[in-house]
Amino acid sequence: MSKSILVVEDEKILRISLTDALKAEGYIVLAVADGNEALAALTEGDFSLVLTDIRLPGASGAEILQKSLAESPLTPVIMMTAYGSIKDAVSSIRTGAFDYITKPFDLDEILITVAKALEVQSMAEENIRLKKELSSYYGAPNIIGESKAMQAVFGLLGKVSRTDSTVLILGESGTGKELIASTIHYHSARKNKPIIRVNCAALPADLIESELFGYEKGAFTGAGARKPGRFDLADGGTIFLDEIGDLPLLTQTKILRVLEERTFERLGATGSVKVDVRIIAATNKDLVEEVKKGRFRDDLYYRLNVIPVVLPPLRQRKQDIPLLIDAFARRLGDRMGINASFSPEAVDALMNYSFSGNVRELLNIVERCMALSSEKTIRVADLPAHIVKTRPSARTPLLSLQDVTMEAEKSHIVKILQLTKGSRSKTAEILGISRKTLWEKINAHQLDL
Ligand SMILES: Nc1ncnc2c1ncn2[C@@H]1O[C@H](COP(=O)(O)OP(=O)(O)OP(=O)(O)O)[C@@H](O)[C@H]1O
Ligand SMILES: [Mg+2]
Repeated sequence: MSKSILVVEDEKILRISLTDALKAEGYIVLAVADGNEALAALTEGDFSLVLTDIRLPGASGAEILQKSLAESPLTPVIMMTAYGSIKDAVSSIRTGAFDYITKPFDLDEILITVAKALEVQSMAEENIRLKKELSSYYGAPNIIGESKAMQAVFGLLGKVSRTDSTVLILGESGTGKELIASTIHYHSARKNKPIIRVNCAALPADLIESELFGYEKGAFTGAGARKPGRFDLADGGTIFLDEIGDLPLLTQTKILRVLEERTFERLGATGSVKVDVRIIAATNKDLVEEVKKGRFRDDLYYRLNVIPVVLPPLRQRKQDIPLLIDAFARRLGDRMGINASFSPEAVDALMNYSFSGNVRELLNIVERCMALSSEKTIRVADLPAHIVKTRPSARTPLLSLQDVTMEAEKSHIVKILQLTKGSRSKTAEILGISRKTLWEKINAHQLDL
C-alpha cells in the first residue's frame, strides 16, 4: 500500500523536485503552493505524512501543523525552513512537528527523514492497535481460557510480568503468542514505554541489522541521516522478537550479544550503544529440533529460554472453545451491531473440529458466521462446510443411499421453487423435467405448497 504525502511549498522549482523525488520512492504525492490550499487538502484527504514550508502565502506552516494534528494526530509533519526562520522551526517541534529540515537541503536528506517519520508513525499505530486489542470488553478478561493448560499460563504470566526476565513464548500459529507478549508488557513496570515488535521472518536478511540496530549518518552511501533501530525505539520498554526461529544464523550471533551485554554496535558508529530493553521472543518452530539441525544457535536458545511459556494448540484445550466462541460473538457483535449467538449444536460441531489455525481460525469462523447470518441464532447449517464434514459420524442417521438421494432431491426442489417464487413451469424447466414429473415429485415428497 503506497503512503500519501502532502507537500506544501510555494517555490516552484523546489516543489517540483520534491514531488519527483518522493514519487520516485513510490509515494503518492499531492503538492500545493498555498497555505490555504493545504488546509483544504487536510480537511478532505488522509495523508500519511505532511511536508511543509514555514513561510507561505495564505496560511502559515504553523497553522498547517495545527490543522494536521487536529485532523490526524499520528500523521508526522516535517517542517522545511530557510535559515531565517529556524526559531519558528524549533518552536514547531515543541508544538508537535516531527522534525524540521533547513534549506538548502539535498533530496536524500529529505527522503531519509520522511522514511524515518513514516516508520516511527507505523510503530505508534502498531502500539495503539495492540493496546486496543487488550482493552477489555464487558470487563471480561482479554485472554480467555479455563482449561488447565491456560490456567497454568495465567499463573505464569502473573509472575513474569513483575520481572524483567526474558520470556520465550512457544506455540503453533494462531495460539495467541502475540497476545501473550503484549499482555506481559502491559502488565509490567515498562507499560508506559513502547513494545516494539520485530517480525524476524519478514525482515530481509541483509536489512535485519540496520532494522534492529539502526545506522549513523554516512555509514554507507545513501545513509543521509541517522536512523534509529528497533532496539533504540524500544529503549525503556520491551522488544518482541516474533518468529525468532526464522532468524538467520549470522543475526542470531548479534542478538545473542545484545542479550548478554545489553549493548550493540550501530552501523557506522564508533563504540557500542547501551539499551535498556526487556526481551520477549516467540516462535512456532520447535527450537530444540532447530538446534539439533544446526539452524539455531544452542547458546541463543538457552539465553532465550529463561522462562518458557507454552501455549497448547486449541484442539488440546477444547473446553476453551465455547468460551472463546461466546466472547468473540459478543465482541464482534458489538462492533458489527449484531446480536447473535451460536446454537449448542453449532458449538458442539466446532468443539469436534480440529483447528489447525487455532484461536485465529476460530475467530475467523465466528466473524464469518456473524457477518453472513441474518438470524439471531447461528446453527450448524451456517458453519463453513469443511467444519461439519469433519464431525464424527456417530450422530449421522443410518440412511440408505436411496433415502439420501430422496432427501437431496426434495430439498433441491424446494430451493428452486423458492427461487422461482413457486412457479412450477419455471421450476420444471430449470430442473430439466416435465411439469407432470414435477407434480408427481411434489406429491411424493408431500411438499406442502
Ligand atoms: N486465549 C485467547 N483469548 C482471546 N483471544 C485470543 C486468545 N488466543 C488468541 N486470541 C486471538 O486470536 C488471534 C491470534 O492470536 P495471535 O496473533 O496472538 O497468535 P500467534 O500465536 O501470534 O499466531 P502466529 O504464530 O500466526 O503469529 C488474535 O486476534 C488474538 O487476539
Ligand atoms: Mg504472531
